[in-house]
Amino acid sequence: MRLPETQVAVLEAASATDAQTIDQLAEATGLKPETVTGAAFDLRDDGLVAVDEELETSASLTEEGEEYLDDGLPEVRLYRAAIDAGADAEPVEMGQLIGASGLGGPQVNIALSNFARKGYGVIDGGAVDANADADPDADEEAAALSAVADDEAGDVADDVLDQLESRGLVERSERTVRLVTLTDDGVTALMEGVEAAQTVDRLTPEMLTSGEWQDVEFTEYNVEADAPTAQGGKTHILRQTADRVKDTLVGMGFQEMEGPHADADFWINDCLFMPQDHPARTHWDRFALDVPPIQEIPADLVDRVESAHREGVGEDGDGYHSPWSEDFARAIALRGHTTSLSMRYLSGYAQGDLEPPQRYFSVEKVYRNDTLDPTHLLEFFQIEGWVMGEDLSVRDLMGTFEEFYRQFGITDIQFKPHYNPYTEPSFELFGRHPETGELIEIGNSGMFRPEVLEPLGIECDVMAWGLALERLLMLMYGFEDIRDVHGTLCDLELLRETEVLH
Ligand code: PHE
Repeated sequence: MRLPETQVAVLEAASATDAQTIDQLAEATGLKPETVTGAAFDLRDDGLVAVDEELETSASLTEEGEEYLDDGLPEVRLYRAAIDAGADAEPVEMGQLIGASGLGGPQVNIALSNFARKGYGVIDGGAVDANADADPDADEEAAALSAVADDEAGDVADDVLDQLESRGLVERSERTVRLVTLTDDGVTALMEGVEAAQTVDRLTPEMLTSGEWQDVEFTEYNVEADAPTAQGGKTHILRQTADRVKDTLVGMGFQEMEGPHADADFWINDCLFMPQDHPARTHWDRFALDVPPIQEIPADLVDRVESAHREGVGEDGDGYHSPWSEDFARAIALRGHTTSLSMRYLSGYAQGDLEPPQRYFSVEKVYRNDTLDPTHLLEFFQIEGWVMGEDLSVRDLMGTFEEFYRQFGITDIQFKPHYNPYTEPSFELFGRHPETGELIEIGNSGMFRPEVLEPLGIECDVMAWGLALERLLMLMYGFEDIRDVHGTLCDLELLRETEVLH
């Protein structure tokens, strides 16, 4: 019989003794374990060997286990110190024994909790009364520690190993061991003689030019052999969705805004007609930064914003009549929304004066001092956007959202009237979670108020929004806990297996 070289080697090695493990065969043949496994399975398919699988438990000492192997178990050390001090005749003070045994720190408690359990004696009122008949040389757990160290855990009783494992001295692990045994057909084949088929495992340029390739036999690939799973790198699903959102908005005629993550409260809040005593502006909600205040803000804009806060805008306008401090406005914090970018652009500060119509967006990170839960993170991505134009209405706003979400397969957006200090009217957006069926909030929007637009020098309408990228992802993929998707607790398996939508 002719067989590939590796199979001949494995078959011959397997005939040496009964039932050999893959590792033993690898050692005997000098082949790699995975090569032996592949050959063994091929031989099994031809009926020449049997491959049996067994679950093997192996045990190893933890660092603490190693320490007790060298120094002795704490309870044994305590017992020996007690016997030396005559505690088998008359109880001896605990403190004295601890000194004599050299036990320190947590080992004292470990010694005490195992001492009585093992019948080394009793501890009563701080004194140790040792049992004269106990034999520390026969300590099962001490013997088991050495057995584990010598790789002979198989000889140790299960309950003793369980005890050592629960004491954190031993760690157990399981692996599948494959045992290869010759079948009767295998024995016959060997008796009749097997020879290695001369196979070639690599096609070379020389073989091609000489034409030798036509006469040789090529090694077969075993496409079913066990192989490690290779995980390729890929773009994170959130980043991929952010890019897709950007493409979509560019396709809808928007231009991208950019600007600082840490910004002056002036751009984050004051321009938005957010009163300086608004709860969102307190230190609970805001990530303040200990850096010098911002210098460069157009002075006339500061004046107009202050005046809007104090007196309002227009003929019958009314301000907040609450304190307004320029220092407060110049202080720096992490932005809690990207509407700060919209303010920079709408003021002309970022881009120069803008003539309507204009459309701008950003897909950028924002920071909020929220409590972490399945739908809230301290950092998340906001899809910010605004449209500047003559005679815009709520219908334009709704139509824009419907058009935007439709491109992500989401067609049942719902709107709920809402309040923002900077928009009137304002709407929250909701979408239905595909798994739980619940309505979840996905964004906030509105038409900027005159108190926002007038100080910026804008005479037409501006509609604007902030949508949560993570919530869009939840609607698209049915994720239920956003912490599975990003951050330190993310579920790598889920991220690997989720089929990315394009
Ligand atoms: N800044 C708002 C938020 O973070 C979103 C928004 C932007 C609302 C612009 C209206 C206008 O929720």
